[in-house]
Amino acid sequence: MAVGFSSASLRLMGTAFGSAQAKVRLVGLILVACVAMFFLFGSGRHVSIGSMLVAAAMVGFGCLAMFRARGGVVQDAAESVVDAAHSRTVTRSKPSTRATGRRPAGSARSELAAALASCRSAFVAVGLFSGMLNVLMLAGSLYMLEVYDRVLPSRSLPTLVGISILLVILYCGQAFLDFVRARVLVRIGGALDEALGHRVYTSMLRLPLKAGREGDSLQPMRDLDSVRGFLSGIGPTALFDLPWMPIYLVIIFMFHWVLGVTALLGAIVLVVLTLLAERLTRQPVSAATLSGNRRGGLITAGTRNAEVVAAMGMAGGLASRWRDANLDFIADQRKVSDVAGSFGAVSKVLRMLLQSSMLGIGAWLVIEQEATAGVIIAASILSGRALAPVDLAIANWKGFVSARQGWQRLTKVLAAMPAENEPMLLPAPNASVTMQNAMIAAPGAQRLLVQDASFAMEAGHGLGIIGPSGSGKSTLVRALVGAWQPVSGRVKLDGADLDQWSSQERGRHIGYLPQDVELFAGTVAENISRFELDADADAIIAAAKAAGAHDLIVSFRQGYETEIGEHGEALSAGQRQRIALARALYRDPFLVVLDEPNSNLDMDGEQALIRAMLGVRERGGVVVIVAHRPNVLAAVDFIMAMNQGRLHEFGPKDEVFAKMFPMLRPVASSNPPLRPTADSAPVAAGIRTGGGN
Ligand SMILES: Nc1ncnc2c1ncn2[C@@H]1O[C@H](COP(=O)(O)OP(=O)(O)OP(=O)(O)O)[C@@H](O)[C@H]1O
Ligand SMILES: [Mg+2]
Repeated sequence: MAVGFSSASLRLMGTAFGSAQAKVRLVGLILVACVAMFFLFGSGRHVSIGSMLVAAAMVGFGCLAMFRARGGVVQDAAESVVDAAHSRTVTRSKPSTRATGRRPAGSARSELAAALASCRSAFVAVGLFSGMLNVLMLAGSLYMLEVYDRVLPSRSLPTLVGISILLVILYCGQAFLDFVRARVLVRIGGALDEALGHRVYTSMLRLPLKAGREGDSLQPMRDLDSVRGFLSGIGPTALFDLPWMPIYLVIIFMFHWVLGVTALLGAIVLVVLTLLAERLTRQPVSAATLSGNRRGGLITAGTRNAEVVAAMGMAGGLASRWRDANLDFIADQRKVSDVAGSFGAVSKVLRMLLQSSMLGIGAWLVIEQEATAGVIIAASILSGRALAPVDLAIANWKGFVSARQGWQRLTKVLAAMPAENEPMLLPAPNASVTMQNAMIAAPGAQRLLVQDASFAMEAGHGLGIIGPSGSGKSTLVRALVGAWQPVSGRVKLDGADLDQWSSQERGRHIGYLPQDVELFAGTVAENISRFELDADADAIIAAAKAAGAHDLIVSFRQGYETEIGEHGEALSAGQRQRIALARALYRDPFLVVLDEPNSNLDMDGEQALIRAMLGVRERGGVVVIVAHRPNVLAAVDFIMAMNQGRLHEFGPKDEVFAKMFPMLRPVASSNPPLRPTADSAPVAAGIRTGGGN
């Protein structure tokens, strides 16, 4: 065991102090030997001398580490522990795993476990530091023992000075190790965040499309923060110190069995208290999380719609709803704090009571001449030390429970959102878009909003979708672009199901302008290029020109570099729609889907839109447009009419219009040119001109 322990320690010392500290390793070895000697030969009174020796060796090790290393050894120690652990895991898994944050789809449990396992040896290092610290912490009580049992009877000043100097050195060593341990823990938290942050963020982006928008969309990131926060705090040190409790108890038993039994009883009571605290805080902590989310949701909704709130005096009503949610939140928080606080108080008093009873029982033993005075004090201090981790654990239980609940929620989220596999790269689609018997429901809901939708469009054609409000037009196009998954049925590009592409790959072939245009904080150019890392300036300008937005953009003071603010608030609604159109056209995607792109456009904008749609068709793409205003239907040759979630009509524009509006006689050629003509502008022209090409 000693051999295994020493080789593991050596490895860890090496990891902890980087490659340059061969000598530190040697001292580590000596240290390990001392620890082994301590446990093998230390007993009774010799324990104190043995442990002083061990502690001195540790301090030697610490000081050497500090002086030997050239600059920033502590930083290196902490970082290299985590990095070495991390790189070992990364080399074991695929090389791309760390760079992209993606992992092969597997169970989320293994994904989270892998992230934690990547820090395993850093945890072992923390365990080792904790071990050293716990041995060092014996110093105070052993000093007391020496003072009472040796210095006072012998009245020897040199002994007192000697052991006092040793004690100061030991305390310095303790401070150093505590310092390193805290830094390593912070870095473990950081490493976990690094391993999971990207994955959690991308899962959060997809979550509303799978589970709906219920609850707080920021919760997964908050959960990761609380796990990281717990790991980086002093909470875990209590867990690392707990295994040392039996060792302290054994030492107290060595002083006298009555003292040992007393300390053991105290420990049992405190452990039971910890378990009770665990049971009683679990429910209030999750209730507090839920009410906190509700409260947060009201704040976000209120600030997002600040204009509506101000214009119509809704602040009072909203504030009273917020107050109710806030009261719930505070009440839940209070419950958590009450439970944690009362257990904290009880455990503190119990610990003090135990220490005093140790003194009392010790005194009785001295009177009975069963123990020396030094033993009483040392045992009292030791029992306090033994139970300190339980105390610390109870004090940090709230953080522990919320971190654990966060971890469980994260596990669920990642299980629901497995990392995308990197499917084989398919050739860019260039022939057809098909929807077969699609049944579509909102994410997380059961009710079918669109039923049995089937149609196919060939390259070079355009489809206009019309129908009354709420008939399911937007729902259908959301499934067409892959934003929503149909409950059943299929959506295909060139005969291949949409999910045969990774969402990133598929995104290159799809341009989508949603009904509620959302731009992101950033520059115009960044928004048009979809925040692509290697954005191409020519492609950005080409897209802007195709959308008829180039002149508008260069008229801004900073042109393409104009910051458009959160949600594009620095732009007018029509400007936003034009820039969003340019974003949809960026890099000439095969399928361009526009959901009421003209709702805020003026005449010029609409003409530009028609030109853009014809441009897509000319280059062999497919354009699908949802429109209430029929002008833009001049640019399509197929029409789909929807009603109550079903495809009411679908076919060439002429035929559909002839069927739907028999009183409207076609007045123009049934084969208008691909380019818009003057008569495509008036409102009814789209219907009257009709005709496909
Ligand atoms: N996220 C959602 N969750 C639940 N139901 C939804 C959701 N989005 C839309 N619906 C419902 O689906 C139906 C169709 O909505 P959809 O937005 O597709 O209509 P639309 O034809 O685009 O209407 P409009 O012309 O007003 O844009 C509506 O009854 C609506 O209430
Ligand atoms: Mg709609």
